[in-house]
Amino acid sequence: LTRKDLKGKKILVSAGPTVEPIDPVRFVSNHSSGKMGYAIARAAEKRGGTVTLVSGPVNLDAPVGVERIDVETCEQMASQMLSNLDQADIIIKVAAVADYKPIDPKTSKIKKKDNNNKDLCISMAENPDILKLIGEKKTKDQFVVGFAAETDDLEKNALLKIKKKNLDMIAANLVGSSDSGFKADTNKVKLFFRDGSLFDIPLMEKEKVADILIDQVIKKMG
Ligand code: C5P
Repeated sequence: LTRKDLKGKKILVSAGPTVEPIDPVRFVSNHSSGKMGYAIARAAEKRGGTVTLVSGPVNLDAPVGVERIDVETCEQMASQMLSNLDQADIIIKVAAVADYKPIDPKTSKIKKKDNNNKDLCISMAENPDILKLIGEKKTKDQFVVGFAAETDDLEKNALLKIKKKNLDMIAANLVGSSDSGFKADTNKVKLFFRDGSLFDIPLMEKEKVADILIDQVIKKMG
């Protein structure tokens, strides 16, 4: 039987990709499946937590007992995360947010031009960094976890991000191998903490990764 060690705690989780429109039929997005974030939401609920899951478009059912809020763009995710922030004790930002969005999404479909071999340019603008905004607003009682999917320099980037975004913990995973990261059912994660400590989670099911990650959060919160 699962221990109910999150009873009375409110957990705010983000998951999945964001989708940034180019025109009414096209968009810019990424390979996030939402599996890791949903596993964390499910694990937190099983342990007695009250869970709100802000989710980009994914092919997953809402975990039973979890309040899911569906969003598409980074702007929508930012507004939902910020309006649910004050009540949260633990914030876990697993979503793969698009860093850039098309500046000027067209209201009608962009047509292919005849007799024109020219490239099509789509100008992109920076999206708000939701996690950084949360880091700026967080109180001393709130515990904020970020995720970092990296292809290079895992440790260096994770530690930099903790400082830059004022986080308590970063869960860093190397993307690019088929048994870990995007889409896979398993993951291999390194947890970095603000105090410089490190906890290694070897390759295992995302469900188990979620439980161990929550163990570590509870331990650090004391
Ligand atoms: O800096 P990077 O995008 O790698 O940081 C990853 C972490 O930051 C994730 O937890 C992600 O959800 C969050 N993030 C965010 N808003 C963005 C970009 C990333 O909240 N615009």
